[in-house]
Amino acid sequence: MPEQEESGSAMRKYHEQMLKLVAKGFYNELINYGVDKADVLSVAGHLLDNVMQKGSGADKQVEYYNRIFTIKDVRDDWASAKRLDLQQVVITPMDVALIPKIANWLRAPATRQSFYPRFPDSEKELVRYFQSPNCEYFSIFHEKNFAGIIGAENIDPESGRLEMRKLVGDPDMHGKGIGKRATFLFLYHVFVVRKYKKVYLHSLDINIRNLNLNGKFGFELEGVFLEETRIQDKWRDVIRMALTAPVWLELFS
Ligand SMILES: CC(C)(COP(=O)(O)OP(=O)(O)OC[C@H]1O[C@@H](n2cnc3c(N)ncnc32)[C@H](O)[C@@H]1OP(=O)(O)O)[C@@H](O)C(=O)NCCC(=O)NCCS
Repeated sequence: MPEQEESGSAMRKYHEQMLKLVAKGFYNELINYGVDKADVLSVAGHLLDNVMQKGSGADKQVEYYNRIFTIKDVRDDWASAKRLDLQQVVITPMDVALIPKIANWLRAPATRQSFYPRFPDSEKELVRYFQSPNCEYFSIFHEKNFAGIIGAENIDPESGRLEMRKLVGDPDMHGKGIGKRATFLFLYHVFVVRKYKKVYLHSLDINIRNLNLNGKFGFELEGVFLEETRIQDKWRDVIRMALTAPVWLELFS
């Protein structure tokens, strides 16, 4: 098979696998919400209705985000004040004085369990963790309130790649667009300030919100680790997604 055709078919296979994972996560969410197994078919019917009405939303995802964010919307005060700002959301290097608050957020089981691998449990270990040399975390502020953290781990200067992790701490602050603006600022830091080449992340198959958010920034599925971790007696798949500088710069310039 010619090389181009082969890579096209591999991409289709990845995409198909991604859709299967999203469907599996969505199914689990429906059951969690108390939807009866028999009603799942009705939900599938309603999904089809949406397709008929609006066209395929999935194809429009990245297009939608690159209409609301562009690189020039970022207020870049990095050189003078180590601060990046986008539509009332600011990221700035994390102050260790905020660790007790972060430890408190991470105490909630749903939050703690959404990370793979997990953050350390105690405040003391967290301080050590955040200060380790191949790790760089930022505080996220929303309208001057401390809302969460976003950061890099496994920073590898030689190959210009790092792993991203993020947390909007207070569940009341979820769904207000803080996560996506902080992610955009973080990607700006990685690709424009640091001039790195690649960002990757791990997410649980059930973390639909996180998968949605990352997909809209151009992250693509790199691999699936089957039954990699156990949460409340259930084995979960872990997904690795990645985004490269040329893709992001082209999408959001
Ligand atoms: C993942 C997380 C950072 C998202 O932050 P957030 O501020 O709630 O997210 P936003 O409001 O910016 O929404 C981002 C996208 O998530 C998706 N989303 C939001 N609410 C959702 C919901 N209830 N169900 C499914 N997807 C949802 C949407 O695609 C949304 O984008 P859109 O509004 O443009 O459609 C936050 O939920 C969180 O901290 N979760 C716990 C920790 C975690 O899972 N971290 C990721 C592991 S690295």
